[in-house]
Amino acid sequence: APAQVTLTIDLAHPGSVIEPAVEGQFAENLGRGIYDGIWVGPHSSIPNRNGYRTDVMSALKALHVPVIRWPGGCFADTYDWRDGVGPAARRPKGINTNWGGVTDDNSFGTNEFMDYSEDLGAAAYVSLNLGSLPAYDGRQWVQYMTASGDSALAQERRVNGRDKPWSNLKYVGFGNELWGCGGSMKADYAADLFNRYATFVNPAPGAPAFVKVASGPSDADYAWTDTMMRDAAKQMGAISLHYYTIPGPSWQHKGSATGFSENEWAATLSKASYVNTLIVKHSAIMDKYDPDKKVALYVDEWGTWYDQQPGSHPGFLYQQNTLRDAEVAALTLDIFFRHTDRVKLAAIAQMVNVLQAMVLTDGDKMLLTPTYHVFHMYVPFQGATPYPATISGPRYVEDKYDLPMVDAAAARSTDGKLYLALVNLDPDRAAQVVTGLTGTASGQILTGPKMDTHNTFAAPDTIHPAAYSGRSERGRLTFELPPKSIAVVAIDQK
Ligand code: AHR
Repeated sequence: APAQVTLTIDLAHPGSVIEPAVEGQFAENLGRGIYDGIWVGPHSSIPNRNGYRTDVMSALKALHVPVIRWPGGCFADTYDWRDGVGPAARRPKGINTNWGGVTDDNSFGTNEFMDYSEDLGAAAYVSLNLGSLPAYDGRQWVQYMTASGDSALAQERRVNGRDKPWSNLKYVGFGNELWGCGGSMKADYAADLFNRYATFVNPAPGAPAFVKVASGPSDADYAWTDTMMRDAAKQMGAISLHYYTIPGPSWQHKGSATGFSENEWAATLSKASYVNTLIVKHSAIMDKYDPDKKVALYVDEWGTWYDQQPGSHPGFLYQQNTLRDAEVAALTLDIFFRHTDRVKLAAIAQMVNVLQAMVLTDGDKMLLTPTYHVFHMYVPFQGATPYPATISGPRYVEDKYDLPMVDAAAARSTDGKLYLALVNLDPDRAAQVVTGLTGTASGQILTGPKMDTHNTFAAPDTIHPAAYSGRSERGRLTFELPPKSIAVVAIDQK
C-alpha cells in the first residue's frame, strides 16, 4: 500500500516572493559549456544563428532562464575581457589553465555573451577578475558594457557592432572563490580587496545599477562569511555561496553519474538537502551584521558533481544526468523557496555539457536532461509567492540516511494560480499525499523505471514529463506519487 502523507499549506503566512533569479544558470568557459554547447561560430555546419546553436537556444528559451553567470568560476580570475572583444580573427588565443589546458580562441567574448543573454531575455551576471587583474580593468570592462555617450569605450563597443549599451547587466561578481582558485586569499584580505574594487567598479553614468556580489564561502566555511560580512557588508548587495553535491567520500571518489547503488542515491539526496543547513547557518551570521537583510545570499554554484564521464576529455567536467539529478534539482529549488528572505539568486552548475547540465550536446545532436525537465516544470515558481508547506508521514531511511519521504513546495504564481511541487524521494515506495485543498489539479510528473533513468543521444526521449493530475477524495485533493518521482501541478480552486 502507498505510504500515507499529509500536506498542510499555510495560506495565511505567505513568504517573500521567489525571485525568478533563483532558477538561474552558470555557464563557465569550461570544457564544452560554451564552445560546442552554445557557441559553434557562424561558419559551423551545426544549425546556428550568428554562431549560437539554435537547438540549445530554443531549449533554453523554454526555461525562461532568468540570469546567466559567466565567464567563471575559476576561469574568471584568469580572464582578460580585452582578449574577447573586436574582430574574431584578431583575438589572441589563450590557454584555459584551469580546465583541460586547452587553447581558447576567444571567439566567444563579451559581445557574444551579452547578446546571447539579451536574446534569451536573461539578466547578465559577469564575474570580474580580482585574482590577477587590477581594479582598473574591471572598471573598463563595465564601462564598455554600460556606457552611452562618446567615451572611448562606448565608441569601441560601437565599432564592435553594438551601438547601445546592454541594459541587462544586473549582477557583477567580484572574483570567484577568492579563498581558492581565485587567489588563495585569507578572508580579511579578500574583504579589503572587495571594498577596493567595489569602490572603483560602477555602472557608467545613467546606466542601471547592478548588484555587487562578494566572493563568499564554500560549504560550511562560516568564518569566511563572518569576516566578509563584518568588513565589507556596506558595499555589497550580495555574497555568494558555493555548494556541490558529491555522493562519494572524497574528491577522488565522487561516484558515478549512472549505475549507482541505492546507498549512493540516498547519499546524494541527503547531501543535496544539506544546503538547507548551510543557508540557515550562513544567514544567521549575516543577520548579525545585516539584521535588515539588505545583503542577499546568492547560491551561485550548486549541483551534483560526479567522477568524470569515462572517455570524456580530462578537466571538462562532462557527466550524464539521471532521475537522481532531477530529484536533486527539485529538492534544492524547494529549499531555496523556503529561504526567499535571503536567497535571491542561485545558479546551477552548469547550463550546458558541464556538471549538472540542462542539455548535453554531441556534434549536431542535443538532448534534454531530467534536470532540464524539472527546471521546465518549475517555471511557474519564478516570481511566485511561497507558502509554508508541511509534510507529515513516513521517512525514507536507507543505511545512515534518514530523510522525509516526500518533499513539497507551494506558491501562488503571477498567473494567480496555486502551484504545488511534490517530490517522492523513496525509490521503491509510492505515496498518497492528502491535502486540505479543494478543487482540481493538473500538471506534469517526471519519473522513470530506474534510479538512473536518463536520456542518451541514441534514445534522447527516454525520460520526459507526462501529464498528471490529482483527484478529489472526500472533498480533499489527493495525489498518488509513484516512487522516485517529481510532480508539479496547478490547482484550480474554484
Ligand atoms: O563549476 C566548476 C568549478 O567549481 C568552478 O569553476 C569553481 O568556482 C568551482 O570550484
